[in-house]
Amino acid sequence: MAETASIREKLDDKGFVILRDFISQDDCARLRKRAEELIDDFDPYSVRSVFTSSRTRGTQDRYFMESGDKIRFFLEQGAFAPSGELKQDKALSVNKIGHALHDLDPVFDEFSRAPKIAELASELGYQDPRLIQSMYVFKQPRIGGEVNFHQDATFLYTDPVSVIGLWFALEDASAENGCLWVMPGGHKAGLKTRFVRDDDGGAEFVTVDEGPLPEVLLTPLQVPAGTLVILHGLLPHQSGINMSSRSRHAYTLHLIEGTADYPADNWLQREEPPRGF
Ligand code: FE2
Repeated sequence: MAETASIREKLDDKGFVILRDFISQDDCARLRKRAEELIDDFDPYSVRSVFTSSRTRGTQDRYFMESGDKIRFFLEQGAFAPSGELKQDKALSVNKIGHALHDLDPVFDEFSRAPKIAELASELGYQDPRLIQSMYVFKQPRIGGEVNFHQDATFLYTDPVSVIGLWFALEDASAENGCLWVMPGGHKAGLKTRFVRDDDGGAEFVTVDEGPLPEVLLTPLQVPAGTLVILHGLLPHQSGINMSSRSRHAYTLHLIEGTADYPADNWLQREEPPRGF
């Protein structure tokens, strides 16, 4: 691929693009501080029943399914001891915050709608880019669980497929602390599954294409804080367990094309349509 290839051409070629120093260390610190403040204001006991109830399926489903246009805190599995107390400090019990930080929190809104990100969206070929989802992922030291192998278009499907993930490293990411792992070129095999609403108020995976993924080894993306990783919506990727004593914070933002059809059975639904920049 020629050096002069556009970002879009690079993304279509390999399925991901790495842009080091896309954001400043000050930006990283600002977002980390804001996430800390949000956690300070969050009362984990207000959601204890969601994460401990034996009827969890229904309660957890609702908490998750309604989070598309809210700021909700998702705790690590087993965050609560049987006594009902948190096993560790609440700042270390949160797995992620999602899924509308970019709309509802002023700091994340300003960051997500910065001119350089709007410019990037048009370089990526969007006519009418919409910010559909944001997540702050903590990947806590020693307990940060893995995120299973998936394609983002499984969760944020449009017709035609248009989702692109912007993954901002807010701390250094390495194989030890649970960096991203990608399957270079794997996006060319097309969409394998969709995650759609079911009749019980939850959502389930349905197969779109049973064909196999290419046999390509996964590559770890070990990147320093400030790096932006752009992920094609069909690129298979995952992140590992954090086995280190360091956290690995990241902020992710997902864009879709406003002119594409957004089905009513996608898991993520909002009261108001997603806004652009
Ligand atoms: Fe993803």
